Formats: sequence, structure tokens, C-alpha cells
Amino acid sequence: PAKLWLDCDPGHDDAMAIILAGHNRLVNLIGVSTVAGNQTVAKVTQNALDIVHAAGLPLIEVVAGLGKPLLRHSAILCPEIHGDSGLDGPEGGPLLPKSPLKANPGKAVLIMFEAIQEHYMQKPEGEKIRLVCIGPLSNAAILFTLYPEVIPMVEVVLMGGCLGVGNTGPVMEFNIQTDPEAAKVVFECGVKLTMIPLEVTHTVLATPEVLRAVAGISENDTRDETNGDLHSSQNMTPSADCAHIASRARTLFRKAMVHLLLFFAETYRTEFEFPHPPLHDPCAVAYVIAPEIFKVRDMRVDIEVCSEVSAGQTVCDRWNSSKRSPNCSVAMEVDVNSFWRLMQEAIAAADAV
Ligand code: BDR
Ligand code: CA
Repeated sequence: PAKLWLDCDPGHDDAMAIILAGHNRLVNLIGVSTVAGNQTVAKVTQNALDIVHAAGLPLIEVVAGLGKPLLRHSAILCPEIHGDSGLDGPEGGPLLPKSPLKANPGKAVLIMFEAIQEHYMQKPEGEKIRLVCIGPLSNAAILFTLYPEVIPMVEVVLMGGCLGVGNTGPVMEFNIQTDPEAAKVVFECGVKLTMIPLEVTHTVLATPEVLRAVAGISENDTRDETNGDLHSSQNMTPSADCAHIASRARTLFRKAMVHLLLFFAETYRTEFEFPHPPLHDPCAVAYVIAPEIFKVRDMRVDIEVCSEVSAGQTVCDRWNSSKRSPNCSVAMEVDVNSFWRLMQEAIAAADAV
């Protein structure tokens, strides 16, 4: 299996990424670090502990990383998408019960360095450790600056950036916009890099059909107990249909996962007018598991750090007009059905623990 370190800011989609990385047999999840992003580092660290506990992964070590971007004063934070806790449920307040697990009290970047080095030594020559970054790149930038010797040992797969339209800025994606200087360090340090941009993650939508599979039910299971009528997407509003799916979920874990997606669905409907929420972060983990389900293209990607209007933009040289050497593989497409198959298998495995 591929050895994978996950650097994250949970976050609803980060939570799904932890489940996918922890419950796929082609991946050996060697550790989880957190970074300020969707919420403060204290909140996202608690969320990471709650999710590893709920998903039956108590042996996965969680360590808190940077609490702010390298140069900017504070992370942007995203309560309008992920709620006040960073992982709210549909009733408001944290989605999951507080886990009894504790974070490793050490410094994340040092622990990442030690773990990467140790696991790299155990690997056959040339096989890299996957560093999957699904939050701002602050930890990764410090890691590569303090310990440049790990650069040849890792392949970074990150969720972030966009070729065109952004989400938290007109042409800026949240993870890169939160810490553009860190992104610049990572994109320019020579590390092997794959970027999964918004254009791809926005195709991975949690539709009612996906929700039913997460709940472990079929369409026929959405039967109204009071009158025996079948409820289908045609005769119910989308949110009523989805709430109905949650109430029929086969287990408490599956119900929590449906609730996670319902909260995300609501904020994406309000903030971005999305009919269904996109599941960004697990796409980066899916790339490690099954790169063949992605189409990628090598190109030069530079990070805008100066502009008042577009700091955090990933300037993607799609047609190599700058004639500069490519520094990044950019995902252009994913086979959405194959992605959901992987995600559903991981949810089933977590549910079975
Ligand atoms: C990214 O921003 C965060 O809110 C998500 O967790 C994801 O990593 C999408 O732009
Ligand atoms: Ca994230």
C-alpha cells in the first residue's frame, strides 16, 4: 500500500477524506496533521480526533500544526460553509460526539519529518511517501523549508487552486488564498506535485442518489410509514427528500455521514447556489488510490502573492505560453462514478468497525 500522511483542516469534506484514507486497502495512513483553515487549529484538531474515533481509526495519530498562515495575520476561516465548530451537523453544533482521544502534543512539522524519513527508509528504493494536503499549505511550506532533505522523499497531492473561477475569491480557491506565501514555497521547491483543482472537485457532487448509498438504503426504502406512499425525488422538495434519507439510514454512523453531507448541502446551496455539495478533499486521496480515474496535464503553475485583487490565484499556464518548465500535474477530469465507488466502500468499511 501507498504510505500516506494527511494534512487537513476538518471540515466536512476533510472528514470524508480521513475516512477514505483510513479505510482503503491500497493506502497505509501513517499520520494526520492539522492546520488553521476552515476553522481555528484547535477546532479542526478536535474535529480530526472526533472523526478518527467515529470512523474506527483510534490508532491514527493526530498532531496539531500551524495556527496561522506564514505571513498573513490569520486564516480566513470558513464558518459559513463548515459552521462554528468547523464540522457542524444539520441542527447546528458539532456533528460528532467529542472523542476521548488526545492529539500528540508534539510539533507537527517535526513529527511529519520524522515519520516521512522513517517510512521512506522502509520503502523500496525510489518509492515516495504521499503527502496529501487538503487545507492551506502552511505546514508543508515549513516542512520543506526546515527539512529540504524530505523533498525527494515525498510526492505532494493537494486539493486546491483553480484554472479559472475561484470560490472564496473571484479567481482564488480557499486553501491557496488562505496562505498564498506557503503555496508559493511548495509550488517552487521542486517537489513532485499534483493539484486537484476546483474544476475537478466541482464535478463530484453528493446527489440524493449518493446520499441513499451513504445511508445504505435503496430508493424503495424511502417509504412513508403513515400512508405507505413511495416518496421519490419527483414529489418531494430536495431537502425534504434528503432529510427523509437521513431518517432511514441503516446505522448511526451512516446517519452521521448523511447529516454531514446535508449540512454541507445546505451551506453550498446558500453560499454558492449549488444544487448538491461538491466533495473536494477526498478527491486528493482518491488520486493516490486510483490515479487512473483522473486525467492530468503537466503545466507551469505560479502563485500570485502580490496583487490586491487576486493574491492566492493559481496561475495555470495551460498552453505553456510562458515556455517555463512545468512544475505541477494538474487534474483536468475525474471519473465521478469510480470516485463514489471508492468513497462508498470506505464508508461501508468504517461502518463495519
Ligand atoms: C477547500 O476549502 C475547504 O473549505 C474545503 O475543506 C476544501 O479543502 C475547497 O476550496
Ligand atoms: Ca479542507
